[in-house]
Amino acid sequence: MSSEIERDFERFKRELPSDFSDHVRETYGIDLTARYLGETVPHPIGKGSGQLSLNENQLAEDARAGLAFVVLKTLIAQDEAGSQSMAAWAIHETKMKVERRGGAGGRPGWTVTWKGRGWDRSLEEYLALVRAGRDLTRAGSLLVVPSVKYHLPRLADPFRDSEYRYTTRLLADAWGAGAPPLLVEKDFSPTLAGDALAGDRDQIMRWLREVPGRIRAAAPRAVRLAVKLMNARFDDVFQLDMMEACRDADALVCFNRLFDAEQGVAYGGWDLSARNLRVLDAVAPGVLPALCGTGNICSGRMIVEYARRGCESVQLHTFFQLPLSEYPATRGSRTERALHALLFDPGDGLVAALLELEATGRLERRNGTLHFLDLAAGAHHPG
Ligand SMILES: Cc1cc2nc3c(=O)[nH]c(=O)nc-3n(C[C@H](O)[C@H](O)[C@H](O)COP(=O)(O)O)c2cc1C
Repeated sequence: MSSEIERDFERFKRELPSDFSDHVRETYGIDLTARYLGETVPHPIGKGSGQLSLNENQLAEDARAGLAFVVLKTLIAQDEAGSQSMAAWAIHETKMKVERRGGAGGRPGWTVTWKGRGWDRSLEEYLALVRAGRDLTRAGSLLVVPSVKYHLPRLADPFRDSEYRYTTRLLADAWGAGAPPLLVEKDFSPTLAGDALAGDRDQIMRWLREVPGRIRAAAPRAVRLAVKLMNARFDDVFQLDMMEACRDADALVCFNRLFDAEQGVAYGGWDLSARNLRVLDAVAPGVLPALCGTGNICSGRMIVEYARRGCESVQLHTFFQLPLSEYPATRGSRTERALHALLFDPGDGLVAALLELEATGRLERRNGTLHFLDLAAGAHHPG
């Protein structure tokens, strides 16, 4: 099938067909179906929360490109009076720098350097974006999920439930009673990991145990909840403890960027994927919420690495921001060009990587078809 991949790779450089998942099923016998937060999506590639999901145009373009899902920029919760306990995260900053960052051993990768934090416009503007996302979700063209950062108290202090209640109710109202139900991602960010607030292990554990229940209690109706875990400034064992503490979540996003305390910035690249995959490797067999991978996903081969460690889908940011010259495609939006490389690169694309797993006996066809989701289903089982 390698000549078939070469052919697709070449011809799709000019235009990626919007029904590429069907094409992959028919041509290669590969079912790319994936899941995010319990929702079935046609393939595993989504966009992580950030500067690339700030407005309706970006959503419309991603729907056209055929992305599986998009997580909106993180909103900083507020109460009825407009007070935000996490206001330090609602700062305005526009300049982003896409740059090379070497990992351990000097392996060249990419990172985006940016000093901003959460959503810095009004709650009303965010709710309008949620309504636009709801329409795309209902139309079946793109699954859109809001992201929120709620109040996180110090150990001796109570949670400000008024922030949880007010913000969650407005999100639920904006979403309406449509199918699928309201999905929310709760962000624990790298700048939080670098903050004095997150210097205390017990404090972090309390947040992770209590926050999912508080969001559910604050919602006027059922809400499905993903917790996007930060890379805490502690060892791998603590990272695993954090996952355990979040059993009440419906999904875990593993794991947000590393924090460079010297430069005071979050970063990604190979050090991020190395840490994330190492921790996911150490997850003990047993029942955990569904997993979604994030961090330095720049190839289909890397998607497979996360999937083999239990991730049912992935969310990317940096790979959607590279200089145009870095993508092999010659036309289309960055999202389309990225999808083209992630799926059809003859060496490192997802199709080639899945066929290679089959050839080496690590993935088997069922009824003549290779299933992407079989990778995650086979992870974290005894033996
Ligand atoms: C400029 C920038 C802004 C981001 N903002 C957010 C955010 O507001 N909320 C969030 O949960 N993650 C945020 N992220 C994290 C990304 O969604 C993603 O999980 C992370 O960058 C790792 O993926 P990557 O290596 O593909 O970039 C941001 C990342 C970047 C680069």
